[in-house]
Amino acid sequence: MHASAPPGGELPAPTILGVGAALPRQLITNADLVARLDTSDEWIVRRTGIHERRHLRESELLAELAASACNEALIDGGCSAAGVDHVIVATITPDRLTPGLAPAVAALLGAPRAGVVDINAACCGFLYALEQAAALVESGRAETVLVCGAEALSRITDHEDRATAVLFGDGAGAVVVGRGSGGRGIGSFVFGYDNELADTLYAEREHPRLRMAGQQVYRHAVARMSEATTELLERNGVAVEELDYFVAHQANARIVAAVADSLGVSHEKVSFNVTWTANTSAASIPLALAAAQREGHLAEGALVGMVAFGAGFVWAAGLASWKT
Ligand code: ACO
Repeated sequence: MHASAPPGGELPAPTILGVGAALPRQLITNADLVARLDTSDEWIVRRTGIHERRHLRESELLAELAASACNEALIDGGCSAAGVDHVIVATITPDRLTPGLAPAVAALLGAPRAGVVDINAACCGFLYALEQAAALVESGRAETVLVCGAEALSRITDHEDRATAVLFGDGAGAVVVGRGSGGRGIGSFVFGYDNELADTLYAEREHPRLRMAGQQVYRHAVARMSEATTELLERNGVAVEELDYFVAHQANARIVAAVADSLGVSHEKVSFNVTWTANTSAASIPLALAAAQREGHLAEGALVGMVAFGAGFVWAAGLASWKT
């Protein structure tokens, strides 16, 4: 049964009720990369802030990792898998070209009546999925929606190319979206794209490997994420000082720091989870949210700004009051 507004009363806004994360067991440190590439720990840390990343083994399924993150999010939110109306998985690296990950994730969780769909919006996929989940709940078409970002970028990385091999990792993060308890909930989003720059960051269908013009991506990522966040705050009537926590897509610590500095957000309020995960595309924001909650940065009601930028170019920004 789906919610409808009581006479004369508004239902609480949709919000994030729970968060979860899962990383593959296989750890790849900078030292592991130095052993087989012409690079150094010093170069990687200075240019990217990354110390380690995780890779799925060939025999492991991304769907299982995603289900594990979703399961943790359900437990954290006090929700049951059987009550999930939709599972939306953001990914560019499903285990097979088709089907996508969502049907396998729902089946592994035991969510028999869920709608199941994958979204491909590269690094912005999680924010697109979150907007759709919020809209489904807000409209009364669904009560509980699982939103998962899951990536196995190691499967589309050129492991011989030192310029990209150091940057990417695998992982899965998830949130449960349902009605909040009267707080601001999930606010309005900002979206944008520039298809003129599609050749700056891409992977071809045949023998897919991520190719990137690093410096161009860097410049556009900083500019677009800064602008999108400014527009997000204006649209939601929020001053930058009111943000309790800020998660920019975890591409690279220098990009995250540059965006935070241009907005005037102090680094204590900013996620640098990229240090431990590298760039996990659609999984990066939910992984960072899970880490932030674990580390005590997200009290109930905390106002969280989120912004992403990636292949397309596509960018997106969203705002939520944590669990209220
Ligand atoms: N180790 C050592 N040297 C390296 C490495 C490496 N791993 N990679 C590149 N170099 C060398 C280059 O060959 C070059 O050498 P040269 O001067 O002799 O030609 C030198 O380092 C400088 O290379 P640049 O590409 O100019 O280095 P830059 O300072 O731009 O840093 C980086 C490269 C880290 C990729 C940067 O451009 C960047 O962060 N770009 C954003 C890319 C990104 O995060 N993409 C993620 C996907 S998109 C997204 O998620 C937003």
